[in-house]
Amino acid sequence: MNIWDQRFAEPGFKYGTEPNAFLRESASRLLPASTVLVPGDGEGRNGVWLAGQGHAVTSVDNSGVGLQKAQSLAAEKGVSLQTALVDLADWSPEPASVDAVVLIYVHLPNSIRLRAHRALARGLKPGGWLILEAFHPQQLAHRSGGPQDIDMLYTPEQLTAEFAELLQPTWVWQGETTLSEGPGHQGLAHVTRWLGQRI
Ligand SMILES: C[S@@+](CC[C@H](N)C(=O)[O-])C[C@H]1O[C@@H](n2cnc3c(N)ncnc32)[C@H](O)[C@@H]1O
Repeated sequence: MNIWDQRFAEPGFKYGTEPNAFLRESASRLLPASTVLVPGDGEGRNGVWLAGQGHAVTSVDNSGVGLQKAQSLAAEKGVSLQTALVDLADWSPEPASVDAVVLIYVHLPNSIRLRAHRALARGLKPGGWLILEAFHPQQLAHRSGGPQDIDMLYTPEQLTAEFAELLQPTWVWQGETTLSEGPGHQGLAHVTRWLGQRI
């Protein structure tokens, strides 16, 4: 059992069962019946919601406990969700295979992030969307969630540099928002939002 298995083994849903607010806004850009990859989907709140919008969703994560809960949530909502147990440290999707990649609070350490982010971006078809929300380094001043480790927190500039020559940023933002996402994310938070398209 890894640390996420232990967290997700607790009763309830750590980040709730409703989708992230930025994902809900941004998903209006997706064409009907898009193929969507959701790395680090955890207990499935975002993947299940996207499936409910009519998209063909694959959620991948290295928490088997999280993915089992994602499948239960999908069954409860009456939607179909593909899941796969993978470690983003050494996994890559098929190049140019999906219409969107959704990364919501998937905080990878520097040692694996650049390779993983570029592999995920390469998984997009030309024009495909990357939708990302993560905590910003200024989140260290808050106690509303996220890793208390600057190595795992993202600035918009860092993400733009990591995706250089693969993705064109469409809308990039950092600032304060109030989170209400299960017991795991509650209160004033400083986040980075990054939306871009595969070149
Ligand atoms: C903060 S949780 C967010 C879960 C979900 N995206 C959400 O917003 O509800 C981070 C997720 O990233 C996953 N994760 C972290 N490192 C990973 C890795 N190396 N490979 C695959 N998944 C990973 C964890 O298992 C966990 O499900």
